Amino acid sequence: MTIFLASEKHIAAAADALRRGEVIGLPTETVYGLAADATNDRAVAEIYAAKGRPSFNPLIVHVASAQAAQLHVVWNALADSLAAAFWPGPLTLVLPRRADSPLSLLVSAGLDSVAIRVPAHPVARAVLEACDVPLAAPSANPSGRISPTAAAHVEEAFPELLILDGRPCQVGLESTVIDCTGAAPVILRPGVIGEEQLQAAGCRLQVNAVDLQLATNNQQPKSPGLLLKHYAPRLPLRLNVTDLQPGEALLAFGPQPLVGAVTTYNLSETSDMVEAAANLFAMLRALDNPAKHRAIAVMPIPRAGIGLAIHDRLERAARG
Ligand code: TXA
Ligand code: MG
Repeated sequence: MTIFLASEKHIAAAADALRRGEVIGLPTETVYGLAADATNDRAVAEIYAAKGRPSFNPLIVHVASAQAAQLHVVWNALADSLAAAFWPGPLTLVLPRRADSPLSLLVSAGLDSVAIRVPAHPVARAVLEACDVPLAAPSANPSGRISPTAAAHVEEAFPELLILDGRPCQVGLESTVIDCTGAAPVILRPGVIGEEQLQAAGCRLQVNAVDLQLATNNQQPKSPGLLLKHYAPRLPLRLNVTDLQPGEALLAFGPQPLVGAVTTYNLSETSDMVEAAANLFAMLRALDNPAKHRAIAVMPIPRAGIGLAIHDRLERAARG
């Protein structure tokens, strides 16, 4: 596709594309994002596929207001004061996911928390209003490349996408990510809103070695997946399984699932890797039932493209 000036007409077209489950290039005040409907598993899987990242790093959900955020996360007093001080703006709050939230489990890579923010950029806000769905949006760079601050950067990497041009980003640095799930807030990713500003807003940060190190180096964790808690099933997982054992549930892949499992879910009957990624967390959770199954057996899955991220996640889950 191509770059469109963010006129009313193109904002409406972008909102339609998002509601159809497409991924678009969206300006925010920090950096450009690769945005998709955060409630649509397949659309979220397309983001991961486009980024070409070999693991599922949870994504930030963008909403139009603090009220909209409260539909998806369990709100608390800390979130309330931080939202009042910094939203709309470059601050992301990590909060527990609400059980009744329609967000895709893939957005938070299977975690029980959700990272959420209300962007300040007028184009991002207009698109959120027009499409009326929460938007998952990681920075619009391929894995391992620097974050884009102009529409042309996004087009270079993703020439096939519809990209809204909101002029160069004013901030140019990603949002500060704060974990608000514990007793004291913790900076997970230093960003444009610094510690002094947070403290001035009454946020008494807990500082631990990892955060201090990250803040000092002013960088993202090299492997955020290693620092983040990850989704761990209660049942043992057996990978690359070609024969079933008694009492096992089966996470199948492809047109010829093994037969004889207590319960079977198929990640993709047509061996479609994006469909498999879209189904991964919901199916793992559905099979993870110690009252019914002894273990989860997982059939071989190709290690290419988004298959690498699926393997990374399954291998971590298998290690417990
Ligand atoms: O400024 C920004 O935040 C940009 C614009 C597009 O909004 N977005 C962005 O997203 O930088 P991304 O996906 O590149 O970075 C998301 C960060 C990662 O460091 C990730 O580990 C963290 O947020 N994160 C997301 N969900 C999380 C969760 N549930 N728990 C902890 N960290 C989370
Ligand atoms: Mg990024």
